[in-house]
Amino acid sequence: MSEWKPIRVPPFRIKMVEPIRRLPAADRWARMAEAHWNVFYLRSRDVFIDLLTDSGTGAMSDAQWAALVMGDEAYAGSQSFEALRAVVEDLTGMPYVLPVHQGRGAEHVFFKALLRPGQVVPSNTHFDTTRANIRAVGATPVDLPVPEAADPDLEAPFKGDIDVDRLARLLREAAPGQVPIVMLTVTNNALGGQPVSMENIRQTAELAHRYGARLVMDIARFAENCYFIRQREPAFRSVPLRDIARQMFSYADACLMSAKKDGLVPIGGFIATRHADVYEAVAPFLILHEGFLTYGGLAGHELAAMAVGLQEVLDEAYLAHRVGQVATMVDELHRRGIPVVRPAGGHAVYVVADRLMDHVPVEAFPGQALTVALYCAGGVRACEVGSLLMGDDERPPYELVRLAIPRRVYTDEHLAYVVRVLAAIAERPRVWPGFRVVRAPAVLRHFTAHLAPTGPLPSPTDWELPLAEGD
Ligand SMILES: Cc1ncc(COP(=O)(O)O)c(C=O)c1O
Repeated sequence: MSEWKPIRVPPFRIKMVEPIRRLPAADRWARMAEAHWNVFYLRSRDVFIDLLTDSGTGAMSDAQWAALVMGDEAYAGSQSFEALRAVVEDLTGMPYVLPVHQGRGAEHVFFKALLRPGQVVPSNTHFDTTRANIRAVGATPVDLPVPEAADPDLEAPFKGDIDVDRLARLLREAAPGQVPIVMLTVTNNALGGQPVSMENIRQTAELAHRYGARLVMDIARFAENCYFIRQREPAFRSVPLRDIARQMFSYADACLMSAKKDGLVPIGGFIATRHADVYEAVAPFLILHEGFLTYGGLAGHELAAMAVGLQEVLDEAYLAHRVGQVATMVDELHRRGIPVVRPAGGHAVYVVADRLMDHVPVEAFPGQALTVALYCAGGVRACEVGSLLMGDDERPPYELVRLAIPRRVYTDEHLAYVVRVLAAIAERPRVWPGFRVVRAPAVLRHFTAHLAPTGPLPSPTDWELPLAEGD
């Protein structure tokens, strides 16, 4: 027994497989150029390991696939909606549930119904679609992260928290009715997937309510946040995850959910609230933009799979495996001297690209330089989360590249390969050029921008990193 070293064993076995292949290096170079040096234009079949996002990319369980067959496709009063409503109410304590096709659908109808031009919505950090949807109705999103979030090396447990002092000041100084909503994104995707503590959620709710605002939580990754609360907040060390979730939701007036994350489905989401007036205000906009109240732009079978996923996601073994995979990657990269945001977040590894690619000025997007390097060097697709994504918004505190881990999809070997590719890039980062924007839309530009390198790329022949025989 004394020699036994713990091994991470996935709490599932694989029942169906999807082949993947790595293109030869010269082809990767060609595909990247054809994609205007923007990984969003790459075809999935040309990607070896796809860490672009953890959104809608997870594997469904056999129980979810079974639920699909039982979906009730009625336009109104679908049983699949009833099942979803019951699961969401049991989880959140909120009886009013409106399905939506995905998270931004929830943001769109919710803000359209409840915000007016000139109003302000503070948050720990808004996700980019949230920010864009608040702006679209003429209101202003404001980010109030804690100062610890600006230091990628600081091992603080809850770097996703909102700065309650700055929030109190903003609420105190606002005109009456100017701040109708305070938001918390759990976990804080835009700032490294870092968790928000229960104490911070409690204080935020207390402040919001004192000033007549409502607390709205973006709960895309609520289960991962609950897991971190249990790991890192001493009062919760032995509290079951479901009870942590219920307490967390008890502070919120409403929730916006992209179920493509912790709903464990490829598409779906919902709005939940405990207030009849919020429901009444949002419902007509839901019918106008998403669909009738009991399907919200989704098929009945998609509602059914979401109801099952929302129950599976709080499984201890699943969360331990998932959060463990991310933590191991962060440890392995840190050990090799590759700058990563620490401590590990829940769904992704964030590389500090302006340190790794410090020869590329911020104006030439060091994050994009690393994103292109990852695809060219290893067929790995990641996502820039820095100045390219932020556009003309305030500069992010650092330039990141996010390697998002899809749920129940990749094994430790796949992720070990990605660590090796990053280590190979880190041995000679200066061979990779920066980028300039050739063409981009005004809103959410990183999705569709065309880019061009600011210098020559290295030769593909130097980047045919060998795979082990039999791989
Ligand atoms: C925190 C957060 N909120 C909202 C969204 C938007 O959700 P969707 O992509 O389902 O529209 C995302 C998507 O990545 C997210 O991470």
